[in-house]
Amino acid sequence: MKAKIIGTGSYVPPKIITNDDLSKIVDTSDEWIRSRTGIEERRVSDPQTATSDLAYFAAKRALLSSKTDPMSIDLILVATCSPDTLFPSVSCIIQDRLGAQNAAAMDLSAACSGFNFALATAASFIESGNYKNILVVGADTLTKYLDWTDRNTCILFGDGAGAVMLKATDEDCGVLSSYLKAKGEDGKFLVMPGGGSRDPEMKNKRFIRMEGKEVFKFAVKALEESVLEVLKLSGMDISDIDFVIPHQANIRIIDHVIKKFNLPKDKVYVNLQKYGNTSAASIPMALDEAVAGNKIKKGDIVVLSGFGAGLTYAANLVKWG
Ligand code: ACO
Repeated sequence: MKAKIIGTGSYVPPKIITNDDLSKIVDTSDEWIRSRTGIEERRVSDPQTATSDLAYFAAKRALLSSKTDPMSIDLILVATCSPDTLFPSVSCIIQDRLGAQNAAAMDLSAACSGFNFALATAASFIESGNYKNILVVGADTLTKYLDWTDRNTCILFGDGAGAVMLKATDEDCGVLSSYLKAKGEDGKFLVMPGGGSRDPEMKNKRFIRMEGKEVFKFAVKALEESVLEVLKLSGMDISDIDFVIPHQANIRIIDHVIKKFNLPKDKVYVNLQKYGNTSAASIPMALDEAVAGNKIKKGDIVVLSGFGAGLTYAANLVKWG
């Protein structure tokens, strides 16, 4: 049995913050942000909107596009590092809202790599024969965890959610291989010190702190390695790739990989100019847009590859069905 993606969906909150808007609150400029990151604008959720709200709308769209009855879902897996509350999980909240009473539900935390970790986990559940229908969601609202006076981080992130519906199939398609890695020793380069059990009195604010240069160096290597290794696991190489959906963090990281592997630009999906880095939502949002834009056709070999806090990195190789 393989895990076939039978539908996709995504959702972003309506409020747009442009680079010019940011230049009014921190010492930055549209020119700096565009040239150093490729980002032009990002979506920001209002104070009443939590991660599960975005996850719910993305999931609903994935169920619609795959014509899935919520009662047929066996498992809901949500990748997020910005849950509404520590518990209940986002997956339990959307299980209730979707009316998916037969589903088990759990969240998975691997920051921006979360969707790839969740997709690989879901594929394993299907390949083992345990489950047939799994909803996988990547959703984050990292703008709620930004220090809006820190120009090193507040320009990078946006909010969003993306989802895929997976179904067990014996067709020659679906998730072919997964490559998941972690480098805990470098976790210090991207942290949120406040709010966890290490800080019960909340002495640290719940803000993202990042050593951008270190994360950048790691990201370039992580993307390169994960693409090569996930192909190798299926006995393929770069020449077999039809389409790449990289984590949407910085255009310079993506351009490095395009150059390294000599990939045609139209084989690599980029939408970070509109959304910034939406963490676990970035890859499923880009996948949903690519599918809606008919960029991916039946039989295509698609690589989904990303990196994130932890530090973590991961890729899945999918044959589109
Ligand atoms: N506007 C203007 N100037 C700025 C800004 C800004 N927003 N931010 C930094 N600068 C300044 C710096 O202060 C520095 O000035 P100095 O030379 O006087 O000291 C100068 O610009 C260069 O700064 P660098 O940090 O060297 O800039 P760099 O080219 O490395 O770009 C960036 C910074 C965009 C953060 C880059 O390092 C990057 O993208 N890193 C990866 C980040 C990432 O992908 N994180 C997400 C991981 S995923 C997850 O799980 C959350």
